[in-house]
Amino acid sequence: MALQLGDTVPDFTQSSSAGEISFYEWAGDSWVVLFSHPADYTPVCTTELGDVARLKPEFDKRNAKVLALSVDSAESHVGWIKDIEETQDANLNYPILADGDRKVSDLYGMIHPNANNTLTVRSVFIIDPNKKLRLTFTYPASTGRNFPEILRVIDSLQLTDHHQVATPSNWGEGEDCVIVPSIKDPEELKQKFPKGYTEVKPYLRITPQPNK
Ligand code: BEZ
Repeated sequence: MALQLGDTVPDFTQSSSAGEISFYEWAGDSWVVLFSHPADYTPVCTTELGDVARLKPEFDKRNAKVLALSVDSAESHVGWIKDIEETQDANLNYPILADGDRKVSDLYGMIHPNANNTLTVRSVFIIDPNKKLRLTFTYPASTGRNFPEILRVIDSLQLTDHHQVATPSNWGEGEDCVIVPSIKDPEELKQKFPKGYTEVKPYLRITPQPNK
């Protein structure tokens, strides 16, 4: 069965552009963004991997490591990295898993045979420090992903792990949040949301971001 939100993700050992990686050990206490792309030396993937390299400081700020994957060899990755660096104004500052035997692709369900029988689709897995899957999404080969959106989701997950709020549509760091519906007691609301809140409806209560 496909991995689902809240599942503990499987561990693996696989080669990469930066040597062998034992996933749990490599991840340590960090969040991880594991993302697959269809193939080396392809245009959309080249722009995606460059974009992630330029955004790496933003992932670092959030204690998140990034790890790419395709079913090409480590030698192929190393050759392609030179092209990415030459064309994308970026240093490839994270590893690309070389999943030629599809060990990781099969474990994580990154090959969707009715889309392509041999190449990985554009999967994304956000994994928390407890190795729990917190988000997954899949894009087709022809559509490059929006990596700032992945940073936005990490911000939301890290906030909502520590405060009893959720983040509304298109929320961004520093913006108003909504109070989770389970809190109803007025005293508890006062104590947990000292900045106050606006009750638009009994189930729709807007409050400033608690940790700002
Ligand atoms: C690309 O990365 O450009 C790509 C890869 C596979 C199919 C289509 C596009």
